Amino acid sequence: MAFPTHVKLVEMSPRDGLQNESCETVNDVVPTAIKLELIERLSRTGLSHIEAASFVSPKWVPQMADASEVMQGIQRRDGIIYSALTPNLKGAENAIASNASEIAVFSAASEAFTQKNINCSIEESLSRFVPVIELAQAHNIPVRGYVSTVLGCPYQGHVSPNAVARVAKQLYEMGCYEISLGDTIGTGTPTNAKRMLEAVSQDIPMNKLAAHFHDTYGQAIANLYAVLEEGIGIIDASVAGLGGCPYAKGASGNVASEDVLYLLQGLNIETGINLEEMIATGYWISDQLKRQNHSKVALAKGR
Ligand code: HMG
Ligand code: MG
Repeated sequence: MAFPTHVKLVEMSPRDGLQNESCETVNDVVPTAIKLELIERLSRTGLSHIEAASFVSPKWVPQMADASEVMQGIQRRDGIIYSALTPNLKGAENAIASNASEIAVFSAASEAFTQKNINCSIEESLSRFVPVIELAQAHNIPVRGYVSTVLGCPYQGHVSPNAVARVAKQLYEMGCYEISLGDTIGTGTPTNAKRMLEAVSQDIPMNKLAAHFHDTYGQAIANLYAVLEEGIGIIDASVAGLGGCPYAKGASGNVASEDVLYLLQGLNIETGINLEEMIATGYWISDQLKRQNHSKVALAKGR
């Protein structure tokens, strides 16, 4: 299969990026104004899709407690989707009331991770999504679906490609228009990534699949190259490589948006995004987080 000519980049930093910033005291909360300025700067880079917040329990992820203020405060630009992550009907209702242009539901290919992350089994998570998808459809709002731990689980270890394919297929058949495949802890390698994608793409067209790779072991760019070769045309990334999942301890952020853009530029793959603007945004948010004494990732990377 040939490389795609165009890739859609889905920017994760306001959600997957900031959700993992430590939040031990109220002073640790990244101010809503900084989140909004990050989204504004990202909006100017040429991105067409920004995951802006998550409507999850503030007891579980305190850093996202201001999701409604963030979603309502965005200076919306034509042509940009501002989406929100929602684990259940309550989250979906709040996201839609706050004018999210799209919502996303999330499950995993591993039972153990699903329990730790959303306090239910995979099957229960899927049944929670039925009313979420119905509500979204009633409002003409598209629903994205995530499958986490597609290349390894922090609790269970190995995850089989068939287990990933099963959950991805269920989400797709339930009405998710796009399925994002999450290497939550970044343990994937190019060979495993290809094998997993082969299994998933038996049931779901390649143009409905996204690669969501975390970069814990520095493999994300190599893994992306491997799945681009297979025809993946949608990539999730986070400026400055910010982020991680609070329920996958030690896992680092998504692959950095700047690094992905540089890779794609070298492969002559069009994105419509300005690399220089993205780099400047990476420096800006890293500086803001450093000032707040945040982001070990930003400090470690010197970004
Ligand atoms: P639970 O404790 O089982 O839920 O949590 P519950 O239904 O028993 O409710 C407990 C309390 O939470 C109640 O409040 C509810 O009202 C409230 P109380 O009566 O105690 O005051 N509540 C909510 N509040 C706000 N918004 C909501 C909501 N739902 C319930 N939507 C729950 C279950 C799913 C809520 C919880 O486990 C949760 O919020 N988990 C989210 C964890 C999370 O955000 N993880 C990170 C995102 S996933 C990720 O990063 C992976 C991804 O990037 C892909 C990849 O990398 O692999 C997507
Ligand atoms: Mg993630």
